[in-house]
Amino acid sequence: MMLISWLMILSIASCQSVCPARCLCHFIHIPRTIECSRQGLQTFPENISDIVEHLDLSNNLLTEITDEINRLTELQHLNLAKNKLTALPNNLAKLKKLQRLNLSDNIIANMADIASISQLLSLKILYISKNHLLDLKGLTSEILQAVDVGHCHIKELGNTSLNGLPALTTLNLAGNPLKIIDMPVSKTLRWLDMSDCVLNYLYPDTLSRLPELEELRLVNNPTLVYSTRHSTLQHSKLKKLDVSRCNLDRPGLHGFPSLTHVYLSHNTIRILPNRIFAKNKQLMHLSLNANNLERLNVSTFDGLMKLQMLDLSANNLEDVHTMTFQENIDLRLLNLSYNSLHRFPELSSLATSLDLSFNLISRFNANSLENMSRIRSLNLRNNQLQLIPPGLESKTLRILDMQRNRLVELYNNSLVNLPSLQQIDLSGNRLTEAMNPDVFQNNPDLTMIRLGDNPWRCDCTQLYVIFEYLTIPTSKTIESSLICQSPANVSGYSWEAACFDAWNTNIYYNKDRTWGMVMVSLLILVVLCGSVISIKHTMRIKRRVLEQRQQQELAEERERLRFLYARRTRLEEEIEDAENSAEPRINPLELIGPPSYEEAVQMPRLIRSMDALNEISVEDGTLRSINSVDNLRIKKRRTRRTKTTRKRTQSEDDLLRREERRQERIRRERNNSSSNICETTDQSQNTNPRQSRTSRRSRRHSFVEESLESNSSKDRPRPQTPNTRKKRRRQVFEDEHVTDDEASDVQMDFNRSVVIRELRREPRSGCRDSFVERGS
Ligand SMILES: *[C@@H]1O[C@H](CO)[C@@H](O)[C@H](O)[C@H]1NC(C)=O
Ligand SMILES: *[C@@H]1O[C@H](CO)[C@@H](O)[C@H](O)[C@H]1NC(C)=O
Ligand SMILES: *[C@@H]1O[C@H](CO)[C@@H](O)[C@H](O)[C@H]1NC(C)=O
Ligand SMILES: *[C@@H]1O[C@H](CO)[C@@H](O)[C@H](O)[C@H]1NC(C)=O
Ligand SMILES: *[C@@H]1O[C@H](CO)[C@@H](O)[C@H](O)[C@H]1NC(C)=O
Ligand SMILES: *[C@@H]1O[C@H](CO)[C@@H](O)[C@H](O)[C@H]1NC(C)=O
Ligand SMILES: *[C@@H]1O[C@H](CO)[C@@H](O)[C@H](O)[C@H]1NC(C)=O
Ligand SMILES: *[C@@H]1O[C@H](CO)[C@@H](O)[C@H](O)[C@H]1NC(C)=O
Repeated sequence: MMLISWLMILSIASCQSVCPARCLCHFIHIPRTIECSRQGLQTFPENISDIVEHLDLSNNLLTEITDEINRLTELQHLNLAKNKLTALPNNLAKLKKLQRLNLSDNIIANMADIASISQLLSLKILYISKNHLLDLKGLTSEILQAVDVGHCHIKELGNTSLNGLPALTTLNLAGNPLKIIDMPVSKTLRWLDMSDCVLNYLYPDTLSRLPELEELRLVNNPTLVYSTRHSTLQHSKLKKLDVSRCNLDRPGLHGFPSLTHVYLSHNTIRILPNRIFAKNKQLMHLSLNANNLERLNVSTFDGLMKLQMLDLSANNLEDVHTMTFQENIDLRLLNLSYNSLHRFPELSSLATSLDLSFNLISRFNANSLENMSRIRSLNLRNNQLQLIPPGLESKTLRILDMQRNRLVELYNNSLVNLPSLQQIDLSGNRLTEAMNPDVFQNNPDLTMIRLGDNPWRCDCTQLYVIFEYLTIPTSKTIESSLICQSPANVSGYSWEAACFDAWNTNIYYNKDRTWGMVMVSLLILVVLCGSVISIKHTMRIKRRVLEQRQQQELAEERERLRFLYARRTRLEEEIEDAENSAEPRINPLELIGPPSYEEAVQMPRLIRSMDALNEISVEDGTLRSINSVDNLRIKKRRTRRTKTTRKRTQSEDDLLRREERRQERIRRERNNSSSNICETTDQSQNTNPRQSRTSRRSRRHSFVEESLESNSSKDRPRPQTPNTRKKRRRQVFEDEHVTDDEASDVQMDFNRSVVIRELRREPRSGCRDSFVERGS
C-alpha cells in the first residue's frame, strides 16, 4: 500500500513537472495537447513532456525558439503564430512528425531565417502569412503542399519563385502588394489566390506554366484587366475563376474552355454581345451581378447548355427578351433582381426559380408564366404590383413571394389556377379587408401564408373565418405578425388580441354555447326520461303492492266472513237445536209416540235405551230454562254483532233467510214420506247437502240425548260454551268415534262415515248390509 501511494505521488509530481506552468495539458485523449496560448510567455517553456502531439504557443511574446524543441519528437502540429519570432532554430531535424507549422503574424522578414523548414520531413502545410516577407525565394521543401504567404510584402511572383516547392498545390498570395506575375512555374499548383492585390494586367500566357491550375482567385484587384479586344488570358484547364470586384468591362472568358464557375460580379461590364459565352460550354454557374448591364441580346447566353445558375441581379436591365434564356435548358435559378424591369418578363425558360425581386414591375398577366413550364418559385418581392392577375396560371408554381408590393385586395380567383401552391407571401402590402378563405380553395397544398405588415381593418366577424382557416388544423401563418391598423381603438394590436373578446364571446363562445346547450338539453332529456321511467316503475310497484294488500285484506275479510258464517251457522244450529230440543218439551207426548218408519230410519241411533227419555221428561223444566238463558245470551251477542258491519248484517240476514228455507224444506221432507227405505239411504250416501243435513239433524238429536243422558247421570247440563263444545267433541271421539260436525259445517264434505258407523252399530233395516257394502 505504501509503495502504491508513493508511486502515485511520484507520478503526480512527474506529471506536474511535465506540464509547464501556465499551460493546459490534455494527455488522456489523442492528440495529446498542451495549450499555452495567451499566457505572455517570453521564453519557450522548459521540461515540456516529449509525448505532446499538439503544442500551441500562439499569442505570446516569444522571440526565439530554442533547440530544446527537438525533444518533442512526437509533435505533429506546432502553432507559433502571433509571437515576436524572427527566425526558427537552425536545426529542426528531430521533429520528424511535424505536419503543420503556423508561423503567421510574426516578424519574419527573410525566408532564409526559416530555411530549417526544409528539414521537416513531414511538413505539408506552412502558414507564414502576416510576416515581413518580401518574396518566396529561399523557401524550400520537397514535400510542402500548401503555403499561405498572404498579407506579406511580396510584390512579385517570378518565374523562379516556386522552384523550391516542387510539391506545392496550393498557394495563397492574397493581400500582398503583388503587381508583377511573370509566368510562375509549377507543375503541381492547382489553387492560386491573388485576391486583394494590385494586379493591373495579366498577359494571355501568364498562367501558361501552371498547367494543373484549376482555380484562380483574382478578387478585388481594382484595376485588373486581363482581356483586350484582341487577346485574353488563357488556360485550358481552369475551372473556377473569380474575378469579382475588378475592372473588367467584358467577361473575356473565351480563353477558358473548361470553366464551370465564373464570378464576374462587381465589374463594369455593360454589354454582353451575342454568343459571348459560346466557348464556355461547360459553364454551370455564371455570376454577372452588379455590373452595368443595360440590355441582353436574344442570343447572349446561347450555347450555355449546362448553365444552371445565372445571376444578372443588380444591373440596369430594363427589359429582357422573351427568348434570351431559351437555350439554357438546364437553368435552375435565374436571378434578375435589383434591375429596372417595368414589365413582367414573359420568358420562355425552363428555369425552376425566377427572382424578379426589387424591380419596378407593376403588372403581369394571367399567362405570364405560360412558357415557364418548370417554374416552382417566383419571387416578386418589392415590386409595384397592385394585383395578382385573376386566373394566374401555373401548374408547377409552389412558392409565390409577393412581399412588399401594392396589393390592395386578393380576388377570389387570383389563385385558382395555381394548384401546386405551397407558400405565398403577401406581407407588406396594402391589404385591409380580410379575404374569404375560398380564395385558397384550389390550393390544397398551401402550408404557409404570410399576411403580416398589412394595414388590416379589424372587423372581427370578417377576420374570424380567415383566421380559423389560417390556424386550423395547423398554423399556416405567423399569428403575431397579423396586426390591426384600424379601427383606431385596436391599432397596433394583433388580430387575436383585438378580437379576443369578440371571438370568445360572439363566435367561439356562441359555438361552444350552442354545443353546450345541446349537450345540456340532451342531458336533461335523458334525466327526465330516466326519472319518468323510474317513477312509473315505482308507481306500478306501489300499485301492485296495494293490490296485493287489498287482495290480502279481501282474502282475510273473506276468511273472517267464512269464519263468521261458520259461527253463525253453528249458532243458528245451536238455536235450532235448542228449539228442537225445546219442541219435545213443548209437546213431549209427541216423542212418546212411535216415529214413522222413515223417520226412524233417518233418526240417529240411540246410544242409550229409549227408557232414558223418561229422564228427559222428568228434568224437562231445568233443561228448558237453561236453554232459554243460553238462547238469550246468544241473541244478545247476535244483536251486538249485527251492529258492527253491514256485511255481517247482510250475511246474517242471508243466513236467517237460508235457515228459514231449510226449516221449510225439512218440514216438507217429513211430510213427503216415501216407502222405499233403501232409496233414502242411497240418497243419504250422496253428497247432497240437503239429505245429509236431515241425517245430521237427527244425529244432533242423538247428541242432545246423549249429553242429556250423561248430564243426568252425573252433573247438571251446562250452557254450551266453545270450550265445553270442544271438550265434548273430544270426548265423543274418544268414546265412539262419533264426530260432531260443527267444525266441518263449513266444509261441503259431510261425514258420511259417521252415519255409516252409527247405522252399523245398530242395524235397523235389511238394507243395511247392502249399504255397508256399497259404502266400504
Ligand atoms: C526542468 O528539469 C530540470 C532537470 O530535471 C530541472 O533541473 C529544472 O528545474 C526543470 N525546470 C523547471 C522549470 O521545472
Ligand atoms: C495560425 O494561428 C493563428 C493564431 O492562433 C490562428 O489565428 C490561425 O487560424 C492559424 N492558422 C491556421 C491555418 O490554423
Ligand atoms: C525567367 O525570366 C527571366 C527574365 O525575366 C529570363 O531571363 C529567364 O530565362 C526566365 N527563366 C525561365 C526558366 O523561363
Ligand atoms: C444585339 O442584337 C442586335 C440585334 O438584335 C444587334 O444589332 C446588336 O449588335 C447586338 N449587340 C451585341 C453587343 O451583340
Ligand atoms: C439574387 O441576387 C440578389 C442580389 O444579388 C440576392 O440578394 C439574392 O439572394 C439572389 N437570389 C437568389 C435566389 O439567390
Ligand atoms: C409562349 O410561347 C408561345 C410559342 O412560342 C407563344 O405563342 C406565346 O405567346 C408565349 N406566351 C407568352 C406569354 O409569351
Ligand atoms: C368571385 O367573386 C365574385 C363576386 O365578388 C363572384 O361573382 C364570383 O362568382 C366569384 N368567383 C369564384 C370563383 O368564386
Ligand atoms: C373598438 O371599437 C369598436 C367600435 O368602434 C368596438 O366594437 C370594439 O369592441 C372596440 N374594440 C376594442 C378592443 O375595444
